[in-house]
Amino acid sequence: MSAAHGDLGDAADRALWSGRFAEEPAELFRAANDSLPVDWRLVAQDIRGSRAWAAALHSVGVLNADELNRILDGLDEILAVTRDHGVRPPIESGAEDVHTWVEWELTARVGDLGKKLHTGRSRNDQVATDLRLWTMETLDDRVREARMAQRALCELARRAGSTAVPSYTHLQRAQPVLFAHWCLAYVEMLDRDTARLEHARSAAAVCPLGSAALAGTTYAIDRERLARELGFDGVSGNSLDAVSDRDFVLDALSASAVCGVHLSRLAEDLIVYASSEFGFVQLGDAVSSGSSLMPQKKNPDSLELLRGKAGRLSGAFANVLITCKALPLAYNKDLQEDKAALFDAMDQLSLLLRLTALTVRHTHLNEDRCNAAARTGYLNATEAADHLVAAGVPFRTAHEQVGAMVREAIGAGVELHELPMDRVRAHAPDAGPCWSDDLSLAASLARRDVVGGTAPKRVAAALGDWEGRLVADGGGGV
Ligand code: ARG
Repeated sequence: MSAAHGDLGDAADRALWSGRFAEEPAELFRAANDSLPVDWRLVAQDIRGSRAWAAALHSVGVLNADELNRILDGLDEILAVTRDHGVRPPIESGAEDVHTWVEWELTARVGDLGKKLHTGRSRNDQVATDLRLWTMETLDDRVREARMAQRALCELARRAGSTAVPSYTHLQRAQPVLFAHWCLAYVEMLDRDTARLEHARSAAAVCPLGSAALAGTTYAIDRERLARELGFDGVSGNSLDAVSDRDFVLDALSASAVCGVHLSRLAEDLIVYASSEFGFVQLGDAVSSGSSLMPQKKNPDSLELLRGKAGRLSGAFANVLITCKALPLAYNKDLQEDKAALFDAMDQLSLLLRLTALTVRHTHLNEDRCNAAARTGYLNATEAADHLVAAGVPFRTAHEQVGAMVREAIGAGVELHELPMDRVRAHAPDAGPCWSDDLSLAASLARRDVVGGTAPKRVAAALGDWEGRLVADGGGGV
């Protein structure tokens, strides 16, 4: 292999499997096969896993106490070296992958003793262990970021106070709701996203180490103890499954794809609300950009970027799902594809969640415009029908009567509550004295007084609940 490996000593220059081979691998094959540029990100997990494995080897007498300590010191030194490298993989080492690099570095420090570390272990259980540890850590961070996005939405809900907006079906005005109610809809979605991310985290928290290549290690390792030391919740129950399944990656990616879809909906709503046609919100300069040609433009780029991530996140899920399809037991090199997709998706999900929080914090409501819109467009037609129902008119009849009234009001260019009472009664003889009170915005909101409804007292209670829960989950920003 490459000669440019610095002071790695005679362990370097050879792949971990070179004994069986008479010829060097072709350059092009190496370009496809070497994974160090990607799996370098697992270096801290690889070293943690190796420390725990060294301790396990000591417990079964493969390493004596002195050897264990020298290996542990060597691994600690390597971890320190990786901090100098930062995120840049040491490509010049010529190592095939991160596991090879760590072993070479160890051997360069502790001599042939370093070559004992791989006793009873395979890169198959090693990489599965590393990736599971990485996934657990990254998902903890994503959950924290999702909570932060929820908090930003709660803050916006607080700022919105009693501001009402039209709600839509088919993007046609339907009924008025509090803007805070809109905010809390996304808080709920993000909460389910968080539950999915947490589920994916527990799916990852199963330790494969001790499965070796595929049939189980031949050393009498206490796998439960090893798993506990590494922070796993338990151990895998079947070695063939443990080295070859990546459904924990799929769980993380599907949770991430669904979250991307949810946030694309939030982005789309705000893009529409920020247009001059709607004018419900304005985006701050910090999260907008201009046009190189049209001086007047202020574009909601941050929201479009948020909306655009759904494709990339769904693509990562489809990528690994199809890679796993029809793979025979047990490990196959196809699985090396999992990391690029997972790393990219987790980076993008992080950006997405943090940018959501930032953009929501820079979203300013045009309260007058919102409230005015909530009073127009016949949003109170359902209230009118309900008023007639209260007077004893069957709902279907009331619906017909109010529909005819709306048609007349549209023709006359007025709102329903602006129609003269004699015209109202011409369509609906049972309309009573509370007609205009019942059609008011305040009455319309207050009547939705059920759990999950938009009545101001219900929304206030829901918002208070969320604020309490999100504080309890750990406050703070990013
Ligand atoms: N780079 C490999 C991967 O990501 C590590 C496992 C290699 N195992 C093997 N039998 N070649 O999957």
